[in-house]
Amino acid sequence: MLSISTAPALKEQVNELRSRADAVILAHNYQPLWVKELADFRGDSLQLSRKATTHPASTIVFCGVEFMAESAKLLSPEKRVLLPAAGAGCSLADSITTEQLAKWKTEYSDAIVVAYVNTSAAVKALSDVCCTSANAVEIVREIPRDRTVLFLPDLFLGSYVAERTRHPKLKVWMGECHVHAGIAPEELAAKVSADPDAELFIHPECGCTSEALYRASEIPGAPVKLLSTTQMIEEARRTSKKHVLVATEIGIINDLQAANPGTVFEPVNPSARCPYMNLVTPESLIDSLANGAGEVRLDLATMERAAQPLRAMLDPALRPWRSA
Ligand code: 13P
Ligand code: SF4
Repeated sequence: MLSISTAPALKEQVNELRSRADAVILAHNYQPLWVKELADFRGDSLQLSRKATTHPASTIVFCGVEFMAESAKLLSPEKRVLLPAAGAGCSLADSITTEQLAKWKTEYSDAIVVAYVNTSAAVKALSDVCCTSANAVEIVREIPRDRTVLFLPDLFLGSYVAERTRHPKLKVWMGECHVHAGIAPEELAAKVSADPDAELFIHPECGCTSEALYRASEIPGAPVKLLSTTQMIEEARRTSKKHVLVATEIGIINDLQAANPGTVFEPVNPSARCPYMNLVTPESLIDSLANGAGEVRLDLATMERAAQPLRAMLDPALRPWRSA
């Protein structure tokens, strides 16, 4: 595997091009290790959205997938945003189209549309507020209980939010991420019966989310934690357990292991690798830094409309139910 310690020439080249391009490199926690080692910042979707609004660099190189780079552009329209991974889509974002959302909205005239950030800019443009795995519960909890909430597109995250908030008018779109949906309840149950003492770190997009919630409610004191990717790294530092079962994309395992070398972090499904998150190559990163390859371009009308739900996510004062 490519690593900076074995590729000092790449590190040097990236450093030089990064300062020449006045760029900051952001990497999602699922990115390959060599990318995370070269990045200025790594994080979960929420942290990277925040970083995109506050960092002074004029170019953002987003090592992640398309919806993340689009979000950075929406939040910083004056900046150049580059995605050094051609074709890095997302099966979850693809699970709802603008036509489907427009039709769903006609069925509920009073609805607040809560869009997970894993959506296209065009879908965000039809939404009221965005959320990530780190803040979905907090945002839905705030919505008045007499308002219909259309939560999209992830059914597993949606059922977790429904369970935690008990919002009586929450409707959930039946979309899924093929990587997380493939981490099945049976696999989790089998791993837990092999070591009932292991702690569980579960990303709420997983197919085993309901099984994990069931365990948490039925077995008093069961060590089950539903976490965003960065929350997993924070919990990894804190845990005193010898063995943790991890349900999410496996790119994060190296971060968990580095955060706590004394604990064994075992993937619930060792084949849970996101193909889109692994499209970046040293050549494509260099091409972005040197030649501006992979620039995100969105039309003005979409940009203006789609930025609003993202801003409402980051600034509670902008949430539409607060001004109604
Ligand atoms: P986090 O927001 O927990 O980083 O997860 C996002 C995700 O699934 C990206 O594909
Ligand atoms: Fe999309 Fe799933 Fe890949 Fe995340 S892991 S980018 S949700 S396909």
